[in-house]
This record gives sequence, C-alpha cells and structure tokens, in this order.
Amino acid sequence: MSYLTKHGIPKVALDFINDDHEEAARLISEINQTIAKIEIDSNDKNLILPLLETLLGHKGTHFEKEESSMKEAQFPAISQHKQEHDRLLNELKALIDHWKHYQDTHSLKTYMNEIFPLWLKNHTITMDHATALFITSP
Ligand SMILES: [Fe+2]
Repeated sequence: MSYLTKHGIPKVALDFINDDHEEAARLISEINQTIAKIEIDSNDKNLILPLLETLLGHKGTHFEKEESSMKEAQFPAISQHKQEHDRLLNELKALIDHWKHYQDTHSLKTYMNEIFPLWLKNHTITMDHATALFITSP
C-alpha cells in the first residue's frame, strides 16, 4: 500500500499536483526506511540530512509551481494558500535544524508518520482541491 493510499490522500484535478504528491510520498518512505536503518546502526545517521534537504527542496519547487498557476489563473485565495505553504516550509526547516542539533529519530519519526501525512491530507482536500477546481473550471 502506498503512503498516499495508506493516509487517504486523494487526487485533485491537476496532474502536476498529484505527481508531486507521489514524489513527496516516495521521499517520505525513503526517509522512514533510513530512520529504521539508523535505529539498527547509528553509523547510518549521516544518510538522513541529504534526504531531508531533498524533501525541503521538493516542497519548495512544488509550492512555487502551485503559486505560479494560482497567479496566472487569478485564484482569489492565493495569499491564504501561499501562507500555508510558507508555514510548512518553515516547519520543515525547523525540523532539519532540530535534527542537526539533537539527531533525535523519535521526533523525525513522529513528524514523518503523523504530522506530515495529516498536514498533506488536510492541505490536499482543502486548498489544493479548491485551487485545482478553480484552475480547471471552464
Ligand atoms: Fe498547496
């Protein structure tokens, strides 16, 4: 079962959003597998930071794509949607800083298994759904 299916993250009316969510899900799975490795052998700790930075970069690029689509279509709630993107990017940056300081797998696990999927699900069914519908409506 894929991560997205497992967490009930539905598709929206724009393919690029669905494709990017799949890629985020693939990265999260890779991060979770790496956390499991670290718990067996702490020498694998250095594997996690590049993956967290890849996830941050991926989300940043994905949000920029959504934001330029919203701008082009003159989506009325663009500032609320962008504000939520910015909040998530700040949260990911704080998580990365926390990891750099404490190398705490417990908080990473909670974030990747609970906080992030819940956020992605809520964000998809509200803001991304409304945005995709607005952009694709004739
Ligand atoms: Fe979004």
